[in-house]
Amino acid sequence: MPSLTLQEIELWTAYIKSICGNSHDAGKAYLIENRLAPLLQETGSNSWLQLLTKVKSEQTGNLKRKVINLITTNETSFFRDTSPFELLQFKIIPDIIDRKRKNAPGSSVIPIRIWSAACSSGQEVYSTLIVFKELLGNMQKYDIRILGTDISDKVMAQASYAKYSKMDLERGMTTEKIAKYFVPDGNMWRVQDEIRAMATFKSINLLEPFVFPYKFDIVLCRNVAIYFSLDDRKTLFNRIGNVLAPDGYLVIGSTESLSGLCSQYESKRYLRSVFYQISSAAQK
Ligand SMILES: C[S@@+](CC[C@H](N)C(=O)[O-])C[C@H]1O[C@@H](n2cnc3c(N)ncnc32)[C@H](O)[C@@H]1O
Repeated sequence: MPSLTLQEIELWTAYIKSICGNSHDAGKAYLIENRLAPLLQETGSNSWLQLLTKVKSEQTGNLKRKVINLITTNETSFFRDTSPFELLQFKIIPDIIDRKRKNAPGSSVIPIRIWSAACSSGQEVYSTLIVFKELLGNMQKYDIRILGTDISDKVMAQASYAKYSKMDLERGMTTEKIAKYFVPDGNMWRVQDEIRAMATFKSINLLEPFVFPYKFDIVLCRNVAIYFSLDDRKTLFNRIGNVLAPDGYLVIGSTESLSGLCSQYESKRYLRSVFYQISSAAQK
């Protein structure tokens, strides 16, 4: 396999940044080489430059999709970092339900809309739904819908399939929850239908403007903006502010912060977690 030249590193880095925002600096050239090697072979390219030319000129966008699937870091697990899910269980979900009950006292069904942005293979989505189910038990009085999105169509297919290996489940799911929420399917485990039915998945690039038919009560956008430039992060969280319901909650990754980035958000703390809401000043 040919090694990347300095010029090729620069060109590939710029291309990757332009299609998914991920900044791979020259020190990460090995990432490009390791992850895209199968594509070099598959396309019979003699050099990295030739592969890049093919990817850019291919009309169907198929090669571009393959680059995205190979280059994105899809690391995730069930109940990743634990504390955001405690935050949902003890603060966010009870607050939303209380407020909605007060605002519409006679209504028989409470709608709750959630967006898990950059959800990878779906573990974040199903962990969130399991928190709802554990907390609410009978879901008939609620209309809960979660939209899971990611730029990679490969992980969107996996999320939609809702099937996980034993190893995936062992990363975050207790034996008790496995028994309650998964059914064996060959050598995999499938998410139970009641939970699966509340989720839909769609490929969305967070660098591009997005519109939705409704506003979200909760947006989870964790461990993706860390790969973006400061400007892209600013634009993303400003846009998320526009699709968040007036009292909606934004939860970001445990190592991330919006401080100094987007002034319309107010940061709030609960237990070990920080979450964000649009400040009342910004709503006027
Ligand atoms: C490290 S995973 C985080 C998954 C999950 N949110 C979590 O915290 O466990 C980052 C995900 O962001 C996705 N991603 C990267 N760039 C993106 C973009 N521009 N738009 C949407 N998703 C993107 C990747 O495909 C990957 O699945």
